[in-house]
Amino acid sequence: MSELKYCNFASRDELDSALAADVAAQLNAAIARRGEASLVVSGGSTPLKFFARLSVQPLPWEKVVITLADERWVAPDHADSNERLLREHLLVNAAQAARFVPLKTAESRAEQAETALAEVLASLPEFDVVILGMGADGHTASLFPCAEQLERGLDLESTAACIAVQPTTAAHQRMSLTLPRLLQSRRLIVHITGAEKKAVLDKALREKDERKWPIYAIAAQRDVPVSLYWSE
Ligand code: 6PG
Repeated sequence: MSELKYCNFASRDELDSALAADVAAQLNAAIARRGEASLVVSGGSTPLKFFARLSVQPLPWEKVVITLADERWVAPDHADSNERLLREHLLVNAAQAARFVPLKTAESRAEQAETALAEVLASLPEFDVVILGMGADGHTASLFPCAEQLERGLDLESTAACIAVQPTTAAHQRMSLTLPRLLQSRRLIVHITGAEKKAVLDKALREKDERKWPIYAIAAQRDVPVSLYWSE
């Protein structure tokens, strides 16, 4: 039984370099074992410099498939699109050879895309590494405590790989990987910065309520090794 492994860094710069090296090592090891590797990343502002570092890691990137933990239901060139973020910051340099599986499809509503997208996600193997961020409300991926779809997203009995989510406290409808699909991974990494988010995570771990703090379902589970990458 593993528990949350704390990796604290003196600066965001050191964190980003160490995380890029760690993820590259995991992907390289997966490629050596199975000839391919899969990586799930999150959007938001925290991972930008980490993406830049990871994009130049020496890897056979053509053997890596990358998808997102969640996506905002906006056009791929929209300022808030996680796909756009990845195309500009991660799928560049050496990493542009990776295969990217987008979560945004042409349907106008995310729920119309759930079934087809779930099939695409089900066709991907167990992920090698899943990197998750966290919001100040304790959401991770787009599993928002305010959303009426949260229960479905956290349901470990569900076979759904993804779920359409409508947060009431954040912009845009979303598509999120569900908790059971996120846990089909060999390694989970929670990547957060700043004292405020650390306090939120500490509170979530104390209160032990995943409906109030969805990050708890990731940070406290014991099935998949999970690390916290944190700096001020
Ligand atoms: C998204 C995310 C989300 C993010 C947190 C943290 O698309 O919004 O994947 O879960 O990781 O909201 O966002 P920041 O890094 O911007 O604080």
